[in-house]
Amino acid sequence: MIDKQFLNELVKKVATNEIIKSKSFFIAANWKMNKNTKEVNNFLDLINKEPQSSKNTIALFPPSPYLYLMRDKLRYSKILYGIQNLYSEASGAFTGEVSPNMAKDFGCKYAIIGHSERRSLFFESDKMLSLKVEACLKNGIKPILCIGENLEERSSNRFMDVLKFQLECGLERVKAIKGSDIIIAYEPVWAIGTGHTATPALVEETHNYIRKVLNTIIVDESSKEIPILYGGSVKSSNVLEIALANNVSGFLIGGASLDFNEFKTIADLLEGKN
Ligand code: PGA
Repeated sequence: MIDKQFLNELVKKVATNEIIKSKSFFIAANWKMNKNTKEVNNFLDLINKEPQSSKNTIALFPPSPYLYLMRDKLRYSKILYGIQNLYSEASGAFTGEVSPNMAKDFGCKYAIIGHSERRSLFFESDKMLSLKVEACLKNGIKPILCIGENLEERSSNRFMDVLKFQLECGLERVKAIKGSDIIIAYEPVWAIGTGHTATPALVEETHNYIRKVLNTIIVDESSKEIPILYGGSVKSSNVLEIALANNVSGFLIGGASLDFNEFKTIADLLEGKN
């Protein structure tokens, strides 16, 4: 006799896979300040052996010194890459900074702008981020603008004001853009690197709210196309349930993207191979 619980699980699994297969996801690996030449090479050799997705986009964000490896090894691949940060000026006396045209020179299609670590550890203001977003767009680089509230702002229910402010300021200089020009990443600060992932219900509610705000900033229909990624302790054990939530277009993955096998498992799950 077939076990009822087993059957229920099976039905759930098949239904989940069908939904996942019908959606396209943007899967971004934010390696932060990790890996060395050997590790980057290993990762790229392994990922180059994998079949390429026909529905999802994978983008890698290595530390800047390894961008040349991306350019060399991903030349014939559908896997894209970007820079973790850049400066808004084209050139000049800005010691330690990298300009958008330099990132473009290395084949970067994307730039992560305003990650919470940049905001908190390097004091990047919303005004500075709006200049960076503008500079990306002027140079044909798609910015991934990160927004997110801290724990105190979430528990005191002020997160909506915070997210609205970050979106309005970040996009202040580029209101004429089309939805396909940018990506938003919602990363609650309390979930980044902490193991405390937001629940699917919380992610859905917050992404729906972000969509509403985006619709007021970019007034044409294209605002509906802006991908909204979720980031914060995403791993293979929780990615699927969040992927099913409304308005979740993909993921910005830190810790779990460092290990090739874990990252591959996540990519496979988002392919509908559960
Ligand atoms: P995490 O980082 O996945 O390690 O929480 C996400 C991020 O900071 O982009």
